[in-house]
Amino acid sequence: MKKTDILTLNKNYSSFEGKTVLVCGWARTIRDSKNIAFLELNDGSFKGCQVVLEKQKLENYDEIIKQITGTAFEVVGKVVLTPNSKQPFEINAESVVIAGPCEADYPMQKKGHSLEFLRENCAFRPRTNTFNAVFRIRSEASFAIHKFFNEKGFVYVQTPIITASDCEGAGSMFQVTTLDLEKLGKEKLDYKKDYFEKKAYLTVSGQIDEQPITHSFGKTYTFGPTFRAERSFTTRHAAEFWMMEPEMCFAELDDVIENIEAMLKSVISHVMEKCGDELEFLNKFIDNSLISRLKNVVESEFIRLSYTEAIEILEKVKDKFQYPVYWGVDLQSEHERYLCEEVFKKPVFLTDYPKDIKAFYMRQNGDGKTVAAVDLFLPGIGEVVGGSQREERLEKLLKRMEELGLNKEDYRPYINCRRYGTNKHGGYGLGFERLLMYLTGMSNIRDVSLYPRTTGNLYE
Ligand code: 4AD
Repeated sequence: MKKTDILTLNKNYSSFEGKTVLVCGWARTIRDSKNIAFLELNDGSFKGCQVVLEKQKLENYDEIIKQITGTAFEVVGKVVLTPNSKQPFEINAESVVIAGPCEADYPMQKKGHSLEFLRENCAFRPRTNTFNAVFRIRSEASFAIHKFFNEKGFVYVQTPIITASDCEGAGSMFQVTTLDLEKLGKEKLDYKKDYFEKKAYLTVSGQIDEQPITHSFGKTYTFGPTFRAERSFTTRHAAEFWMMEPEMCFAELDDVIENIEAMLKSVISHVMEKCGDELEFLNKFIDNSLISRLKNVVESEFIRLSYTEAIEILEKVKDKFQYPVYWGVDLQSEHERYLCEEVFKKPVFLTDYPKDIKAFYMRQNGDGKTVAAVDLFLPGIGEVVGGSQREERLEKLLKRMEELGLNKEDYRPYINCRRYGTNKHGGYGLGFERLLMYLTGMSNIRDVSLYPRTTGNLYE
């Protein structure tokens, strides 16, 4: 007999009335009362189903009821509709195979573990309702991103993870080497003897490798893991996180902003449509403003504000903040959150930042002081997107690189696309885990990655 998914049963139980099905999954609970027992079976879909076990029908009944939470079962039984009970149907078991017993020290025997305990047991986390919901939403949100860009004619490109260049010029990179670290210090470092015969790193962003490729297709996006080695202890920073980076030729800052807003609304709508049960669960147990917040974002127009206007607002209330506020300062999260949580209560795009606090590739504005940059802040999370119109004018780009002491040879393909058919051009990077925090109500980035990597932690 072919297996039926519990998701299919939950969706169409009335069409299965009276039919015999095979369902396979793991016991969430087994409750017995003498000659009848109830097995709550879950096969990994968000909702499980109830199996009724009758002693007189099952020769291995006594063996079954000795099993514990976590045991794998294969059940053949008849679907019975139960309109007056908590669950709309149950399965009346005709035969039950104990496919995989569960040992008594199974950590998920107990319910109500702390988030910290669960982080120490990453491989088991998605067996809980909370994390099952979170990682299902992660899967749907990834799909929704691909769907959005595919429908808009973007080409999905996979940029390399190992790279020689530091995209942001920020320097916080993990080095990749096969040199024998045990011997370091005893002999002179010679990168010619290293695997790539030069220094190599894990990428901080796919952008610099992607942009020249965008000039072959017109519109591209890359979506993959990126790595940052800064020693950060916040709940929003990870050492390994996924970034989604679209790039568009013949596009200005407004086109970039429009694309960000449309993409976010489309991804949120998709998740709301596909993950209703998961969101309801998270709304009940994790963040009871989750669903109304997501609806609000889909329905509202995002605020657009220049950095200079933001400073004017913040300077009026500067006593509220721990860090100083003045034109030219790199805003802290307390400033960003004040703008989107207290002043506007909506997502806020901040544009046109001072050039000295932004990357070399951003397009210089006519005022000589600012660049055509954009960051998006979401209430409760802070910065989720960073992007810009790119500097397409070769002389200006080269001059800025010189000012910042960047080695032009490291950026040859990037510079070349300014020499061979340059054009107005823009793109951005979305921090996928930060978006997921927003989509799930989880307040720590470690709770939206399967195996989080943060300063001091390689969770298993
Ligand atoms: O603003 P960032 O540094 O921008 C870039 O890397 C550009 N090259 C992107 C581009 O224009 N193609 O990073 C983009 C986003 C941030 O807005 C944030 O959401 C996320 O990546 N991010 C992090 N997420 C988790 N942990 C970290 N350590 C992060 N650093 C950045």
